[in-house]
Amino acid sequence: MQNQQTFLVTGAMGCLGSWVLRNLLDQGARVVAADLATEPSRARLLMTDAEIADINWVSMDVTDAKAVDDIVASNDVSHIVHLAGLQIPFCKANPSTGAAVNVVGTVNILEAARKNNVKGLCYASSLAAFGPEANYPERPIKDDAPLIPSSLYGVYKAANEGTAKVYWQDYQLGSVGLRPYIVYGVARDQGLTSDIAKAILATAANKPFHIRFDGPVALQHANDTAQIFIRSAQAEYQGAAACNLRGDVIEVATFLSLLDELFPENQVTLKTNAPLPYPSDLDDSGLRRILGDVPFTPLRTAIVADVQRFKTLIEAGKVDLEQLNK
Ligand SMILES: NC(=O)c1ccc[n+]([C@@H]2O[C@H](COP(=O)([O-])OP(=O)(O)OC[C@H]3O[C@@H](n4cnc5c(N)ncnc54)[C@H](O)[C@@H]3O)[C@@H](O)[C@H]2O)c1
Repeated sequence: MQNQQTFLVTGAMGCLGSWVLRNLLDQGARVVAADLATEPSRARLLMTDAEIADINWVSMDVTDAKAVDDIVASNDVSHIVHLAGLQIPFCKANPSTGAAVNVVGTVNILEAARKNNVKGLCYASSLAAFGPEANYPERPIKDDAPLIPSSLYGVYKAANEGTAKVYWQDYQLGSVGLRPYIVYGVARDQGLTSDIAKAILATAANKPFHIRFDGPVALQHANDTAQIFIRSAQAEYQGAAACNLRGDVIEVATFLSLLDELFPENQVTLKTNAPLPYPSDLDDSGLRRILGDVPFTPLRTAIVADVQRFKTLIEAGKVDLEQLNK
């Protein structure tokens, strides 16, 4: 299927970026795949070498306003999925670089979108824009619950949402910010919350693995999440929405029980009394209002499919199992 949209995907070599590319290729969209990184190791898990060679890869640093504007202008970009960002531990270790990439980078994307009349924009916020569960007595937590982040990463993501609101107010640039919690699936290989994806990988590899947190979480499959990003950009939303994602809201111990039921031979264990400092009972009705139906693969189906995917990739020598030790 061909379509006439031209997508700029930032952070295209990341986990979600690779899944977004996979889906955009399937749609026949024109794509500009931008990242600071140059090695499409995650794309190799989801695409053939020929598909990867066909992609229009560009080296782009989102902190460079002129480079971002040039790429949007010269490629006649109609839609943007903005994923480039640094995760929690990196922002903690390097606050200035974290702010440059996560905050200034998003300002640069909004500015380039405004100047070049981009039609549809979706960017990655995060559930971390909320903060500790105790701050949210009303459940499920709605999109407009107060942002009380407790990490620099969360503060930067909250700043992105505020910036997008001002771009709507001042320039009528529409956008959808999405707040994923724990994305899991093939290619999710870094950050603390990648432990869910790694537990599934370890099961496929027949290796031991220890999940470093417990408590209630919301699990969102990478392929579903990528489709939500694409459709949120294609919605060409008129306003500045910031939307929760829901997925499977579940205790990590229940996830492990499900893994035990499906793959009794697994060697996955769980750290106890180590909940993550975020709420999990999320109301995604705002996202449903924009998209209609929200892509959702139930956890049981996703685990079975992912174990099979990982097994095939391991047999082909495509997965670095060292990630299980990080
Ligand atoms: N994975 C999750 O569970 C999750 C949850 C909430 C929010 N998010 C957000 O979603 C987005 C994508 O997440 P992911 O899991 O794919 O992350 P990832 O770490 O796999 O990918 C991020 C990509 O951004 C690129 N990048 C970093 N600095 C850059 C720069 N200066 N210019 C251009 N590219 C740069 C990296 O090279 C990397 O390829 C991020 O913004 C992240 O904060 C992810």
